[in-house]
Amino acid sequence: MLLPAGAVPVVSVEEHYESLLSDVYTWLMGGFDEAKSSNLAFFKNRHIASSSSGIALDLGAGSGFQSIPLAELGFNVTAIDLSQKLLGELRTNATSQSLVTMPSIAINKSITTINDDILNFKDHLSSPCELIICMTDTITYLKSKQDALTISQDSFSSLEAGGKLVLTFRDLSAELKDTDRFIPVRSDENIIFTCFLEYEPETVKIHDIVYIKKQDSWVLNKSCYRKIRLSAEWVEEQLAVIGFSIEESSNSGGFQTIVAVK
Ligand SMILES: C[S@@+](CC[C@H](N)C(=O)[O-])C[C@H]1O[C@@H](n2cnc3c(N)ncnc32)[C@H](O)[C@@H]1O
Repeated sequence: MLLPAGAVPVVSVEEHYESLLSDVYTWLMGGFDEAKSSNLAFFKNRHIASSSSGIALDLGAGSGFQSIPLAELGFNVTAIDLSQKLLGELRTNATSQSLVTMPSIAINKSITTINDDILNFKDHLSSPCELIICMTDTITYLKSKQDALTISQDSFSSLEAGGKLVLTFRDLSAELKDTDRFIPVRSDENIIFTCFLEYEPETVKIHDIVYIKKQDSWVLNKSCYRKIRLSAEWVEEQLAVIGFSIEESSNSGGFQTIVAVK
């Protein structure tokens, strides 16, 4: 289909990260140190630490905001992500702390990075996990509710008894209207990042608009992709049907945290 001149096509999550988001993602989240310490506190507040097999799986690991704290808490982490750039950042962040291994190279290190779709995560496991996490909206990047269900079912079958699945995501089930759909995400003297939301019945088109200062002028980059609209109630219901018990389901600022136990 031909697009009108200047129109922005909807791209895949992978393309979106490659062309726009991965370059500014860590900055957008407040920087590595801040994101790492808030995630460390998240796990400590929930008494999440290695206590049996110590195998943890980080689905949509990004630049390591969760993988690195989990390794520090004693887990052997398999970090899976589609973005080569963000996995590269994760390795740089972890190398400084001697926490990373490239598949099949090092021994005695605690994070292995895998560049793959999280839907294939079972291919990278050889024994049951103690912990599976899919945090900061990664689950809403999937193409359909059926894919979210597949991740939940595969998580259940991959966890050891008593193992936990941690999901955090923005509940997009309620629709923002009019100019409330423009979200000023972050800005400083060099970057201005704004998001515009376009609601569809099952999905939301996310238009990311970023101005970056280059010398004396502002350069615009824009890209659009889709997230699925998951309600906390639907996710909880599906997890219960699969056989999980819900240890926590809480909402803070529109962001849902669900901790489910096998
Ligand atoms: C919002 S970021 C979250 C990253 C990290 N968990 C954090 O909290 O910073 C979503 C991540 O999921 C990855 N991602 C999205 N869909 C994916 C998929 N189907 N398979 C693998 N990675 C995916 C993206 O590349 C991105 O790194």
